[in-house]
Amino acid sequence: MFKQCSALLLGTLALLSGCTDQQSTQQQAAASKPDAKQEMVVGKDYHSQSNPEQVKVTNIALDLDVNFDKKVISGDAELTFEKVKQDASSLIVDTRELTINKVTANGEEIPFTLHPADSFLGAALEIPLPATGDKVKISYATSPDASGVQWLTPEQTAGKKHPFLFTQSQAIHARSFIPLQDSPQVRVTYQANIHTPQDLLAVMSAANDPNTERDGDYQFNMPQPIPSYLIALAVGDLEFKAMGRRTGVYAEPSVVDAAAKEFEDTESMLITTEKLYGPYRWDRYDLLILPPSFPFGGMENPRLSFITPTVIAGDKSLVSLIAHELAHSWSGNTVTNATWRDLWLNEGFTTYLTYRIMENVYGEARFNQEAVLGYQDLEADVASLPPKDQILAIDLRGRDPDDVFSNIPYEKGALFLREVEHTIGRENMDKFLMEYFEHFAFQSITTDQFLTYFKKHVVEQYPDKLDMARINEWIFEPGVPQDAPMPESDAFSIVDNARNNWLNGEMNANQIDTKNWTVHQWLYFLNNMPEELTLEQLHELDRAFSLTKSHNNEIAHSWLMIAVKNWYQPAFGRLNDYLVHIGRNKLVKPLYRELSKTVEGKKIAKEAFDKAKAGYHPLTVKANQGFVE
Ligand code: BES
Ligand code: ZN
Repeated sequence: MFKQCSALLLGTLALLSGCTDQQSTQQQAAASKPDAKQEMVVGKDYHSQSNPEQVKVTNIALDLDVNFDKKVISGDAELTFEKVKQDASSLIVDTRELTINKVTANGEEIPFTLHPADSFLGAALEIPLPATGDKVKISYATSPDASGVQWLTPEQTAGKKHPFLFTQSQAIHARSFIPLQDSPQVRVTYQANIHTPQDLLAVMSAANDPNTERDGDYQFNMPQPIPSYLIALAVGDLEFKAMGRRTGVYAEPSVVDAAAKEFEDTESMLITTEKLYGPYRWDRYDLLILPPSFPFGGMENPRLSFITPTVIAGDKSLVSLIAHELAHSWSGNTVTNATWRDLWLNEGFTTYLTYRIMENVYGEARFNQEAVLGYQDLEADVASLPPKDQILAIDLRGRDPDDVFSNIPYEKGALFLREVEHTIGRENMDKFLMEYFEHFAFQSITTDQFLTYFKKHVVEQYPDKLDMARINEWIFEPGVPQDAPMPESDAFSIVDNARNNWLNGEMNANQIDTKNWTVHQWLYFLNNMPEELTLEQLHELDRAFSLTKSHNNEIAHSWLMIAVKNWYQPAFGRLNDYLVHIGRNKLVKPLYRELSKTVEGKKIAKEAFDKAKAGYHPLTVKANQGFVE
């Protein structure tokens, strides 16, 4: 259910209830334009120092040893290349904290130059092209602190007996464990031989054989060309359980049954998405459940999405995450953003698809609730982020993509597509998307390429309904355009009434009829509480609903945010436990940020962070250490 009114305001303006006027929109937009905009080369990847415009790597053959004692991955990466410019003389690849032992071509050593490292791009490795052949082999080893690898001790796993390793390449971390052209506009096929301790299983973002013998030697093949940020490896005490004909789950033995039950609808989601958007092009779709330190909710590594265990809630309430990672098989893995400026092409399309999949599999009521919650996340970011960070085609020059993570590419991107859907009709929208995925399959595209295609295939087909000025406003201006669609949910009106009655003192908390509330209703109930509540009110809520003890990690998060804002100490034990055991940034970072606002809060944050740090992923450390210093 949607209503046409913009309650979203631009830029740093606070959230008010009215609509902003056109003049301030333009002033804000103008002020947010970086001076250097003219010089930006559209389509250039400012986050890679490699040279694909001269020489392009097309295949990577890996032969790697995983050493848990040393926390080192070492071995060879053989790169097959293609000259783009006939006079090209060297191949440049990205590295970060790699030790390069030697480079060979045709069995002979060749000299190489490892350039000085840039603070977040790493060090460019320059290799003169061999006189003959199209391959160079790089022998290398990773650093124990590689930004894209987390090494877990047995204590940090569910089973407590075996170590665990996983990689996370997006956005620019593949270069910390493979020397490669680490840009999403370079697509490669890959093969890998991975050697691990004998009792562990290796899995990759490639064809995995669920029945492979567990012997410490594993072979993989990824026959479709993929961008480097989708190369992924995990090693651990993993078991496989099938969920459907093409879907299954890998997890530690004590987790695998609960995961397979929680995510049993994955096969239906896959079938639904194919019906809506065309064939699934990746053969199998499996899930890998990681330990709780995984810094994201999920990562769409092709054929094998990596998933946080924090969404195993017991009631399928958080499975939209699976729909999201699955949807990336179309938007992201099949049609890929060419640079990180274009991330919204991956995440906005995927968020739109996620809502559609959820609606198909679980019905309109759930869709409406999830859409409102997503919209509220967007509202919060529009109220708090600087205007330049509210632009879909964001200028990321000179910035580390890890520092710019927000809801904008996700929810604003999805809202844009929803507006198009409402304007041209659902059937036409679905037809457009199906053709779009087909047209650009296995290509990496820029926002501008998208726009050219969109103009021809959509805007010009509906000249009375759509115009490019509106589309450009969505993509190049901050905030959300006036009269954008606004999701609504009946189920949430009930919650608003209950909350208001309680706040006005017309009702005690234990008189609210919450028996049939969904997890989403609980989230909406908590997320929309006033900033300040009294200790009595907090005690009352906790007594009535046992919120401090909630087993749902999202509900616990919302409650802990309230507890920190209002210094509700009875929840601080749980808070500490939560921060120490969960490494998913979306859940812990807002808590650290809130705690860091007061001296006493900072003390609590520091205590938890110091305890947790050894077990956090490098990205979680990087994202939060500023809050405890
Ligand atoms: N691809 C992203 C994760 C990502 C994005 C990593 C940008 C690094 C840079 C993944 O698909 C994702 O969006 N995960 C979300 C899922 C959520 C929106 C359902 C997450 O981890 O919270
Ligand atoms: Zn995503």
